[in-house]
Amino acid sequence: MSKQPIPVLLDGDPGHDDAMAWMLAAASPALKILSVTSCSGNQTIEKTTYNALRVMALLGINAPMAMGGTPMLGKEMPVPAVHGASGLDGADLPEPKQAPVDLPAVELMAQVIRSSPDPVTIVPTGPLTNVAALFAAHPELKSRVERISLMGGGIAHGNWTPAAEFNILVDPEAADMVYRSGVPIVMAGLDVTEKAMLMPSDFDRIRAVGGKVSTVIADLLEFFFQFHKSLGYPGCTIHDAVAVAYLYAPELFTGTDMYVAVETGGRYTRGATIGDVHNLWGKAPNAHVLTGVDREGFADLFVEAVSHWKED
Ligand code: RIB
Ligand code: CA
Repeated sequence: MSKQPIPVLLDGDPGHDDAMAWMLAAASPALKILSVTSCSGNQTIEKTTYNALRVMALLGINAPMAMGGTPMLGKEMPVPAVHGASGLDGADLPEPKQAPVDLPAVELMAQVIRSSPDPVTIVPTGPLTNVAALFAAHPELKSRVERISLMGGGIAHGNWTPAAEFNILVDPEAADMVYRSGVPIVMAGLDVTEKAMLMPSDFDRIRAVGGKVSTVIADLLEFFFQFHKSLGYPGCTIHDAVAVAYLYAPELFTGTDMYVAVETGGRYTRGATIGDVHNLWGKAPNAHVLTGVDREGFADLFVEAVSHWKED
């Protein structure tokens, strides 16, 4: 008897790697996308919302979409140097085929969770603004969330400050609420995502599959590589895709359970995710922190996934 697909709620700030994460999710028979919501991060909420709708149109994702919020206390922190002025520069994406539903992201997420016969998995690949707001507005729904598989944070270091990774830094208050929510977390932080790299040879393998999606993904990778090349990277770190890949190919990853706290103050450390590696605080773990990846196996997932649309 084949396992039932895992019901997932995608929440992100597309964003090149968000788009690639969503591509893996849309191609995998092991996952069923129940909803898509946008958050402010890589670009403004208006741009990430538009990009989310374009990615859904490209992938043929048949699910409702809602526009999310802006950071709880902080201001929006668009990063055109990484993802371009649009937030998804470098490829020819279709125009949206649907409009956002007339509900805030939190209410769409709540509606979807309530109507799911099985507990859901939330997959945030941007700041945790919407997830925190969901738990604040509807705490009773936390028991209907099996786990949160998120891209964010880093135990060893940050990437936007020495201490903080971008997604957490944009909205540390939201991240603090999510890490203290009691809902189990799979944390795809920089400790693993900086190893989850696609190389130019992988871009070529993806493009060689053929079809509209493989062309768009290869084009997005070529653009995304410009930023990584400027930092001396040999390839692109596809951070967000780890949060999806873990759900259907966990064998490609290694990790360890630990308590993780989010710093919201700190003269130098706002947005840091502090991992209690030696259990010095004596608290029960709240996260499974991913630390290792089979890079070649990870890259093969993309070639396999774009083949889903090779005839398009
Ligand atoms: O630090 C990497 C994260 O920041 C990724 O989610 C990327 O899309 C950006 O949002
Ligand atoms: Ca993202």
